[in-house]
Amino acid sequence: MEKKWWHGKTAYQIYPKSFQDSNGDGIGDLRGIISRLDYLRDLGIDLLWLSPIYPSPFVDQGYDISDYCNIAPVFGTLDDFDELLSKARDRGIDLIMDLVLNHCSSEHPWFKKACADPLSPEADYFYIRKGRDGQPPDNLRSYFGGSVWSKLPGHEDEDLWYCHYFAREQPDLNWNNPQLREQIYSLVNFWIDRGVKGFRIDAILSIVKDLSFPGLLPDAAGDGMSHAANMNALLLDRIGPYLNELKERTFVRADCFTVGEVLTVTDKSVREFAGTNGYFSTMFDLSCRAVIESAPHYTQFTTLGPDEFASCVFATQELYQQAGAMTAPILDNHDEPRGVSYFMPEYLQNAQGARALATVQLTLRGIPFIYQGDELGMTNTHFASIDEFNDLYALDEYRHALESGLSDEQALRCVAWHSRDNARTPMLWDDSASAGFTSGKPWLRLHQDWRTVNVKNQLHDENSVLHTYRRLTALKHDSRWHDVLAWGDFTRCPVGSGMIAFWRHDENCTLLTIVNTRQDVFTMDLTRAPGADLALSAPDHHCCDLIFAANGVSLVNTILTLGCGGAAVICLRHKAMA
Ligand code: GLC
Repeated sequence: MEKKWWHGKTAYQIYPKSFQDSNGDGIGDLRGIISRLDYLRDLGIDLLWLSPIYPSPFVDQGYDISDYCNIAPVFGTLDDFDELLSKARDRGIDLIMDLVLNHCSSEHPWFKKACADPLSPEADYFYIRKGRDGQPPDNLRSYFGGSVWSKLPGHEDEDLWYCHYFAREQPDLNWNNPQLREQIYSLVNFWIDRGVKGFRIDAILSIVKDLSFPGLLPDAAGDGMSHAANMNALLLDRIGPYLNELKERTFVRADCFTVGEVLTVTDKSVREFAGTNGYFSTMFDLSCRAVIESAPHYTQFTTLGPDEFASCVFATQELYQQAGAMTAPILDNHDEPRGVSYFMPEYLQNAQGARALATVQLTLRGIPFIYQGDELGMTNTHFASIDEFNDLYALDEYRHALESGLSDEQALRCVAWHSRDNARTPMLWDDSASAGFTSGKPWLRLHQDWRTVNVKNQLHDENSVLHTYRRLTALKHDSRWHDVLAWGDFTRCPVGSGMIAFWRHDENCTLLTIVNTRQDVFTMDLTRAPGADLALSAPDHHCCDLIFAANGVSLVNTILTLGCGGAAVICLRHKAMA
């Protein structure tokens, strides 16, 4: 595989509203991020993804952009941004911006012009269509519930609809229009010219539309509609020309790192999207989310335990490896509940479980993205009432749950365990009022554990989740393990239910990552581990080194013992050490 500058890097996602406030308005901002750059450097971060910081009405927390070439005043100014970029660079950190190109905000001047004059050139930047028999043009359901069509503002008395796969305040952009595409390339280049080194590309599969808007057979939700994602999957083959042009006109100019938010992946699409000449550098591993969210509503979502988590993640590893591509392993992000609350058994939904999951995530093949707060072991937030939620999706699902006959308590429970707000609550810096996040009132409630789970406490504790993350990123930067962790092959090591184990190996070195999520103690002679012959057929096989351990691990000669939650990385052979 051709080596790229971003291979072997560790990325971190900042949710700007909740990272660090500098001016007491209760909302995080760029100067707040600047003040925490040393923290990110010490955490071993190489790439920093900022969720959207552009001007926006924030109906969908900035994923509704009203000006692509500026900074939302609540976050700061372009000067603040330039300072952030250069101070991050001084610390060896490159910035990644969020590109939301499937839709803009209904407050964007393009959409305002389209509404003012549906015959204007800007009107064709959107999908504006006549309905069918007084109904919307098709029966697709938006990602946030309800039809993907709404009446064009200002034209409610006419049979004129516009398409939005997400909220009605997020009108979809018409990528068939060449002028629109030019505008897109120029806004991407605006940020590249400022020094941005990469982009996270939002909801990109939704940009392809069948212009006959045929709709689909109703899915299982029982509302006569079909989820818009089903249409995306059908049209996957038609996206290539758009994404190639986007890449050629923008990303290749500066050898940018790009990571796509792509939910539906197949062997073929991985190659096309993230292979050697793929549209993007990499794509998030969203396989767990795809399983959980395969049902149309929160009320029907499933849970995943450690075995299902491992089986999704391992399948993704193999898929990408076979395609000569790299994935981007995640535990969660701003759209998902906390991984430790989702994938760990109840007795490990705590710091131990967080250390175990981190060990897996940071030694998998690919570019791991740590989501803010994961490095503290933050779990889901306890929301006491629906008034404590902010996310439009959660509020919509709550309404839907009530309509479908659930009691208030049941509806709340449903939303609480899956809401995107779980992981959007403020970063916990210390045990002072508002957790050091703001001197004012935080825009979203604090996580219940803020007095104990915070950066200040964890910096003093060598065994903390934070120090575990630091040790893991240090492992990735260590010249002895860097290459095998960056490029080494991935092979499963099936040692039984409740165990998550895999090999990383190249011609010089073989590592075993192994995690025990069971309650009982696990013991194994490493020479008998499935796949140990990867390493032990070599003459210098007697070298068995514990290079990383957390939560109670012992290695005596070749006998490994892991307590509940025990996590280890073991080097079975290393030429330089033999
Ligand atoms: C992506 C974002 C999510 C947003 C949606 C619409 O999935 O991650 O937060 O709501 O796109 O832009």
